[in-house]
Amino acid sequence: MAVPLTDQERRKQISVRGIAGLGDVAEVKSSFNRHLHFTLVKDRNVATPRDYYFALAHTVRDHLVGRWIRTQQYYYEKDPKRVYYLSLEFYMGRTLQNTMINLGLQTACDEAIYQLGLDIEELEEMEEDAGLGNGGLGRLAACFLDSMATLGLAAYGYGIRYEFGIFNQKIRNGWQLEEADDWLRYGNPWEKARPEYMLPVHFYGRVEKREGGGVDWVDTQVILAMPYDTPVPGYRNNTVNTMRLWSAKAPDDFKLHNFNVGDYIEAVLDRNLAENISRVLYPNDNFFEGKELRLKQEYFVVAATLQDIIRRFKSSKFGCRDPVRTSFDTFPKKVAIQLNDTHPALAIPELMRILVDVEKLDWEKAWDITCRTCSYTNHTVLPEALERWPVYMFEKLLPRHLLIIYDINQRHLDRIAALFPGDVDRLRRMSLIEEGDPKRINMAHLCVVGSHAVNGVAQIHTDIVKETCNFCYFSQTHPAGWIWPPGRLFDTCVVVGEHAAVAVALDDVTWGLSLIQVLCYHMAKLIIKLITSVGHVINNDPAVGNRLKLIYLENYRVSLAERVIPAADLSEQISTAGTEASGTGNMKFMLNGALTIGTMDGATVEMAQEAGEENLFIFGMRVSDVEEVDKKGYDAREFYERLPELKLAVDQIQNGFFNPEKPDLFKDLVDMLLNHDRFKVFADFESYVSCQDRVSLLFQVKNPRAWTQMVIRNIASSGKFSSDRTIRQYATEIWGVEPSDVTIPPPNEPPFKAQD
Ligand code: IMP
Repeated sequence: MAVPLTDQERRKQISVRGIAGLGDVAEVKSSFNRHLHFTLVKDRNVATPRDYYFALAHTVRDHLVGRWIRTQQYYYEKDPKRVYYLSLEFYMGRTLQNTMINLGLQTACDEAIYQLGLDIEELEEMEEDAGLGNGGLGRLAACFLDSMATLGLAAYGYGIRYEFGIFNQKIRNGWQLEEADDWLRYGNPWEKARPEYMLPVHFYGRVEKREGGGVDWVDTQVILAMPYDTPVPGYRNNTVNTMRLWSAKAPDDFKLHNFNVGDYIEAVLDRNLAENISRVLYPNDNFFEGKELRLKQEYFVVAATLQDIIRRFKSSKFGCRDPVRTSFDTFPKKVAIQLNDTHPALAIPELMRILVDVEKLDWEKAWDITCRTCSYTNHTVLPEALERWPVYMFEKLLPRHLLIIYDINQRHLDRIAALFPGDVDRLRRMSLIEEGDPKRINMAHLCVVGSHAVNGVAQIHTDIVKETCNFCYFSQTHPAGWIWPPGRLFDTCVVVGEHAAVAVALDDVTWGLSLIQVLCYHMAKLIIKLITSVGHVINNDPAVGNRLKLIYLENYRVSLAERVIPAADLSEQISTAGTEASGTGNMKFMLNGALTIGTMDGATVEMAQEAGEENLFIFGMRVSDVEEVDKKGYDAREFYERLPELKLAVDQIQNGFFNPEKPDLFKDLVDMLLNHDRFKVFADFESYVSCQDRVSLLFQVKNPRAWTQMVIRNIASSGKFSSDRTIRQYATEIWGVEPSDVTIPPPNEPPFKAQD
């Protein structure tokens, strides 16, 4: 229960967070008590901290409702171009505190909860993270929703309401164990189910020629998509946008028409199979797993979302409802669809299917509309992460889309053949269809031909995408022309907190260690075991004592990042140059006061540009050095033999120094490092060690002000890494929309006033 604060602590809290109006505090208390009674059906004798959290969440939620409805009405009145951010992941974390801050309610809630004898931080800790993402890609989507609302864009996030998000990580005996993330167990006060807006999604079936031309997709199996809406408030601008997540529901007649030949109970139980589509997030970061259920998820979100987009277009002022313009001519002027990686790439053939098969537009017109509507963000060039779906899966699950992709490809190859006569190898390289056993569809190529803009997530990454993927060619043939946004496109999650004195080694299986997934889960888990084993030795070595501790932080997630990042002094960003698209932690650590030891990779390159390279600890190969090593051939053993410190470390890992009970436990790891290391980590070792010496020198013995000065220079030059800045750039360069400076008037909602 609440630990009462001393008067001094209260004064400090008030001086930091401001003083709430008495009316506001009274209103929060009264609303909180009302929700505890009527919504939670509890009294103070039996209420748990979770009940109090829900009572506060509902109190805060009440202040969103009027603004939410007003914002949506406003969009219908003004009819601005709508921006749709399609993503298989939205890594939102917790909602309560962010909402209080954005609505200007934090001080009033702090005071009200204190006056009720409760501890607001304890209540905030009861909230489950919405862990509907793996790492950077999902957190980017969450930050973008936040910034789009703050900039007043008429924007929507569309995704899947996974019943189970990213697994909870437990460490047992040094090994990772995964537990299911049953985040909805106690209910989610932030979502509103909208069963009345349920939409059908079709799978399987076959394609039938229509009399008089055209085709129909028939004999399909229908799954329903039920929307759940979550409000996305802007920062103190009365804007509340919508994140709409779809949940799979079996239709009432699911399998029951076979009743006479089957079993009623079996048929009802089989509804679970259909509803498995939205059951669980695939815990793959930068890795293509190629499972049919994942392909179903990708089509499910796209099919439901496009129906909703077209419904909204048709019912808006300047859409089809306008009798003068009953066509789709205005569609690209009214709708922007952003594809967060290739995961929602089926939006391209699905929009074509709707325009051609349903709306009866001719192909060329439909293709022009599709390209001008869609744009694509690439998140990696690592081959193991690229989505390449077997053609046979499409044949079975999405036969109409396969034909559409074949048609897109035919026209695409015709254009290339006309531009580069006789260049057969080029046709093979550029095709959307990869020959082989099995034949595969290259989803990145599909996105590139079906979009008017493509971007990477950092400048170096955009440059690498352009160079390595032969994508430059496309700009010559594309009907709508191309944008390669020239600047940085980063996400940044601003976190604040106190600076702790303890240094921790932060490892992260689902974020930072994503590259390791390519070496299979076995290797990822072995690395975690190695870290915990090394920690065990260091932490129990009397010679080391309290001078150094290695702590593996279990279950890294958004809410833990919000605590750890502000507490860090040094941020290690040690990917081999050219392999990390952007990174996100790098920027967050920088703006929260940590210095960076890192390679010239991803966004770290631009951090060095902004702050000055002398204000970061840069080490290791540049991309050009890596290319040189690749040309010569990388020999890990050469480094191992030449560098005694490296040899000692590798030998200790190999010989069971860190794991005497099972001395050969790490032999696969050492074998990988010595014989098959695609990331060439030994090539950066020497430079890393000497750079760490510079870090230690500055941190420990030199003028302590020098470290602080460097921190200040970093923080002061981190402004560009704001997702608000990024979204402004997307808005003008990709979507063709203007951030709005109009503040939607607040709803009539006594007695609250916005705080300053
Ligand atoms: P949607 O954007 O069509 O999903 O509708 C979202 C919300 O916008 C609705 O629940 C209404 O509050 C509002 N809305 C829908 N249609 C209109 C309209 O024609 N005029 C004003 N507001 C509307």
